[in-house]
Amino acid sequence: MPPLSILVLHGPNLNLLGQREPGIYGSLTLGEINRLLAAEGLRLQAKVTTLQSNHEGVLLDAIHGALGQHQGIIINAGAYTHTSVALRDAIAAVNLPTVEVHLSNIYRREDFRHHSYIAPVVIGQISGFGVQSYLLGLQALIYDLRKNEV
Ligand code: DQA
Repeated sequence: MPPLSILVLHGPNLNLLGQREPGIYGSLTLGEINRLLAAEGLRLQAKVTTLQSNHEGVLLDAIHGALGQHQGIIINAGAYTHTSVALRDAIAAVNLPTVEVHLSNIYRREDFRHHSYIAPVVIGQISGFGVQSYLLGLQALIYDLRKNEV
């Protein structure tokens, strides 16, 4: 199996994980989540590159830059999930297999979180399993990327 390279994008306010509303988002820091992702990547023979930004344009540039560098994307777009047509268009434009993840179950929360602009342009969405959403998302993406390999 050729090694895969996966880009994991974390959107706004996720740099505050650990101290940010732990009852909703858990007590792990972003650094701890990134370490778990790297370890899971190693187990599945995939290199995981992570990036967090509070700036929509930086996330857009990272999606564009993934072309030719990574085979797939995991994205937790944070609040931009519910607002950003630009992120949706970027994912559609690069056409790289992408999985949307959320720590919390966005459908059990406020109405404004029930709509994702990103969901229609990704392979699938995993929402509500805390850090496991990321790890399950990584597994699902790698499974999808490898499903046609013999
Ligand atoms: C989130 C859910 C979003 O509604 C929220 O704005 C976030 C985090 C999650 O991981 O549960 O910042 O994407």
